[in-house]
Amino acid sequence: MIIEPRMRGFICLTAHPKGAEQNVKNQIEYIKSKGPIAGAKKVLVIGASTGFGLASRITSAFGSDAATIGVFFEKPPVEGKTASPGWYNSAAFESEAHKAGLYAKSINGDAFSNEIKRETLDLIKSDLGQVDLIIYSLASPVRTNPNTGVLHRSTLKPIGQTFTNKTVDFHTGKVSEVSIAPANDEDIDNTVAVMGGEDWAMWIEALKSENLLADGATTVAYSYIGPSLTEAVYRKGTIGRAKDHLEATAFTITDSLKSLGGKAYVSVNKALVTQASSAIPVIPLYISLLYKIMKEEGIHEGCIEQIQRLFQDRLYNGSDVPVDEKGRIRIDDWEMREDVQAKVAALWVEATTENLPEIGDLAGYKNDFLNLFGFGFDGVDYNAEENELVQVESIK
Ligand code: NAI
Ligand code: NA
Repeated sequence: MIIEPRMRGFICLTAHPKGAEQNVKNQIEYIKSKGPIAGAKKVLVIGASTGFGLASRITSAFGSDAATIGVFFEKPPVEGKTASPGWYNSAAFESEAHKAGLYAKSINGDAFSNEIKRETLDLIKSDLGQVDLIIYSLASPVRTNPNTGVLHRSTLKPIGQTFTNKTVDFHTGKVSEVSIAPANDEDIDNTVAVMGGEDWAMWIEALKSENLLADGATTVAYSYIGPSLTEAVYRKGTIGRAKDHLEATAFTITDSLKSLGGKAYVSVNKALVTQASSAIPVIPLYISLLYKIMKEEGIHEGCIEQIQRLFQDRLYNGSDVPVDEKGRIRIDDWEMREDVQAKVAALWVEATTENLPEIGDLAGYKNDFLNLFGFGFDGVDYNAEENELVQVESIK
């Protein structure tokens, strides 16, 4: 079949295997072009198939020759239906890693569950012995707590009062006003349960209790802050409460790793187009203006550039890891630059359906969105028949 993008709302129902492969290859080439990183050699990435997690896996493998185990939740291809993009990304990653002589295995299933944790621990035990870096990069709308059996759903709501601001439907380019009613306490608790630090701590506790953490092991989870423009719906909203919890959990985990000399960090990353961020109201308009300014200033980065900088300049810079007053690593430093934010804020006031293609980078947004699903890459023949349903032995 010829695979074309089929959009529905904020998602694309199809994904292109060759495009996903091209995406992974481009990221690998970028990492190789930046030279070796004196990083970890045995790496577990939880949320390894797309976005920042995939970039972390690629950076470890091709920057530091690391053995990697990736955990993710993706759909394999079935007759007449493509796989989810992260599945193709992971298949391509494994194939490239194996060609380069690197250990790479993946576990496909619910990382929040006891079963997938058990499977992962067993794989580490049998194949790697221990791990020295654990990247925690899950983004999910739901989590079943394995101890209580309760299914929690996260929400993206303001807290305290209704939030009204501009937003854009990036498919049509229509700028409109959106109002989001405030969360109740249950919404807050549920969002913290899904996107807070509880599951991260469970993973590290499980690894530690079975002696699968190397001395000096490091773990990193990803957070976001963003500007005052998006504060009501992001950092001071339900998701922000979850990020507060995640950031606090870094300290708890660091305490628990004292005897190993281990450390937990949160890295605050830049706003980027991913499946997770496209679903948040207001953020796509902010991103399209931010991209415009950052590209003009020559400081635009995607996931792979961000993570390369995180590993090279922050985590493995041969010296102390630089952190802010709250102990967080900041690779959102260029996004948050005062001059960048002042320009975005000025454009925000002006933005309309008519002028957004000019004053914002709507085209860049759309292109990045297509890229997530393996579409829009140079060097891929999108008119070719894609008959074979890719099957990869090592992805369970
Ligand atoms: P993403 O949607 O690209 O990646 C999410 C990953 O989690 C995928 O590998 C997916 O398979 C996996 N996943 C989801 N549910 C799972 C489950 N139940 N079991 C196993 N795997 C599961 O998201 P993105 O944007 O890379 O987000 C990763 C982290 O980075 C999140 O904590 C997010 O808040 C944070 N972040 C994102 C920013 C952005 O602008 N996209 C900015 C700063 C931080
Ligand atoms: Na990720």
